[in-house]
Amino acid sequence: MLIRHPDDLPSSEITPEGLYQNRRAFVGTAGALALGTVLAPSAVQALSHTGGQEDKVTPEEDATSYNNFYEFGTDKEEPKELAKDFKPMPWTVTVEGLVKAPRPYAYDELLGRLPVQDRTYRMRCVEAWSMVIPWQGVQLSDIIKRVEPLPSAKFVEFTTLYDPKRMPGQRRAVLPWPYKEGLRMDEAMHPLTLFATGMYGKPLPNQNGAPLRLVTPWKYGFKGIKSIVKIRFTDRMPNTTWNDANPSEYGFYANVNPAVDHPRWSQAKERRIGEFLRRNTLPFNGYADQVASLYSGMDLRKFY
Ligand code: MTE
Repeated sequence: MLIRHPDDLPSSEITPEGLYQNRRAFVGTAGALALGTVLAPSAVQALSHTGGQEDKVTPEEDATSYNNFYEFGTDKEEPKELAKDFKPMPWTVTVEGLVKAPRPYAYDELLGRLPVQDRTYRMRCVEAWSMVIPWQGVQLSDIIKRVEPLPSAKFVEFTTLYDPKRMPGQRRAVLPWPYKEGLRMDEAMHPLTLFATGMYGKPLPNQNGAPLRLVTPWKYGFKGIKSIVKIRFTDRMPNTTWNDANPSEYGFYANVNPAVDHPRWSQAKERRIGEFLRRNTLPFNGYADQVASLYSGMDLRKFY
């Protein structure tokens, strides 16, 4: 990953806490109505085990103007500007591979009437910065049940749109396009795993992966593939973009692990965007109670 040191974030990019708390009750419902879905009665306890430190929601301005989305440029400030005219709708997601009926799904057909979740998650980037983001979306497990994979499916692969006309960053070979990511089936079915369609109670901004992106809060941010157009079920571990680009630095699992350093920097601490002092990074980003059992018996140094 091209790295800008977290300390380089100028204070001008950090704005005071926004109006999110006031908007929340209202827009949560509006977002649900827009999707033609029903609000889930209760959200998973998403912010447990903070290591004794407070987790304040990151200002919306920071979360939407400091982005990694190489399809729209490799600088953190570029996606907001270069994606501003991207039209995410209409959108089609092709479901392929080991599934009962492989076929394209219109966005509403894939998501319509599934319960909308409102989940505030800590998000930890592999570059050692972090944010706290209020996501809206649906559990990936609900989508998977809807499209009916075969019992032989062991992994799910996700692919971002490839369209250099609409995604100018794809005109340069900075990554092997299209961006791909993958999960083991049990990770994909885990209740924490979301397909986000919104954040801060509003539709997902283009720079954050409109109209549909993956959210796995116990994994490094690069797993959170944006603008997904394909879901493929397979019996083999799929290739993933960052692992293909640099296998010694980016593994398939990408579980947040303060004990396993990136070859070029430590993962023990993180800089929460908007805060001055670094905080300790927690195993599985603080979600160990919910997810550690998925990896019992695995050597997490080897399967990084
Ligand atoms: N998805 C695509 N298609 N292209 C990308 O460059 N960057 C990843 C991930 N998803 C990326 C992507 C990385 S490295 C991170 S840290 C997160 O998106 C950033 O998400 P955010 O901009 O919403 O914070």
